[in-house]
Amino acid sequence: MDLQLTGRRVLVTGSSSGIGAAVARMLAEEGAKVVVHGRDRARAEAVAAEIGAAGVAIGELSTDAACKAVHAEAVAALGGNIEILINNAGGNSEGNSTKPPHQIDPDHFLSNFNANALAAIRLTNLSIPEMEAAKFGRVINVSSAVAVQPNNMGADYSAAKAAMNNFTVSLAGALKGAGITVNTVSPGIVMVDGLLRMGRDRLGNPEASFEEVTELLVNAGVFTLPPAGRLGIPEDLAIIICTLASPRSGYVTGANYRVDGGQIRSLN
Ligand SMILES: NC(=O)c1ccc[n+]([C@@H]2O[C@H](COP(=O)([O-])OP(=O)(O)OC[C@H]3O[C@@H](n4cnc5c(N)ncnc54)[C@H](OP(=O)(O)O)[C@@H]3O)[C@@H](O)[C@H]2O)c1
Repeated sequence: MDLQLTGRRVLVTGSSSGIGAAVARMLAEEGAKVVVHGRDRARAEAVAAEIGAAGVAIGELSTDAACKAVHAEAVAALGGNIEILINNAGGNSEGNSTKPPHQIDPDHFLSNFNANALAAIRLTNLSIPEMEAAKFGRVINVSSAVAVQPNNMGADYSAAKAAMNNFTVSLAGALKGAGITVNTVSPGIVMVDGLLRMGRDRLGNPEASFEEVTELLVNAGVFTLPPAGRLGIPEDLAIIICTLASPRSGYVTGANYRVDGGQIRSLN
């Protein structure tokens, strides 16, 4: 199937590692012009070279000025406006909280909102006018399963991701008829390098396999396996994001795609 992504101009934030790197790689394989983003230039440039990206855009996304700089660098590298924006950068800016919600410092709620929701909102706001002028655009926000089913711990992160889901629905509605779709993709537990490293450290075996690390984490009660019977890998997200990014996916907007192996038990 041709996803009609050839030559499409894409910025994938947080693509210097993990889910974002897999998304950038798959989009590049589909012929898109991709800009790789991260805070660490060396890591971003390594991914960009490996996948044959159009360039890199480097910087924090935690202030308006920094986002403007990243947006401008991406547009320059692409040679035109961002047609497809994947707001993937983020994570728990305060580390995984072991505190119940009422004991989390209010500043941690603010910093998570900034690093996840506002990072996406700022870049979206910069990109939408250009998409409107072109009468085409795709915005895909990478949220989390915990946005709709929060754990007792980590409320600062879950609440920030829930805000992204909420923003997605409002924006999709506000852009009625503009040729721009806005969707959320919500990963469950995905084995990225950081998680693999944590498991290998606990095992004391730097060579431990994906399966060995999964077994360790499940046995330690860190996770339970979802109905799919395994943890996710970044490519599980990439295939769904590429599909939503396609010009052929114009009838899907305001949706939340759960890519969690069946972790969230929901009828919708
Ligand atoms: N892995 C999971 O199990 C899982 C589950 C649910 C949701 N998610 C979400 O999926 C997305 C990707 O996560 P991942 O697991 O692939 O993480 P990762 O491997 O740690 O990658 C995170 C990426 O985001 C960038 N980044 C983080 N904070 C940033 C900031 N303030 N400004 C600019 N760039 C920033 C990092 O850039 P540098 O490191 O180069 O600075 C890196 O490229 C995140 O939004 C995360 O919340 C992940």
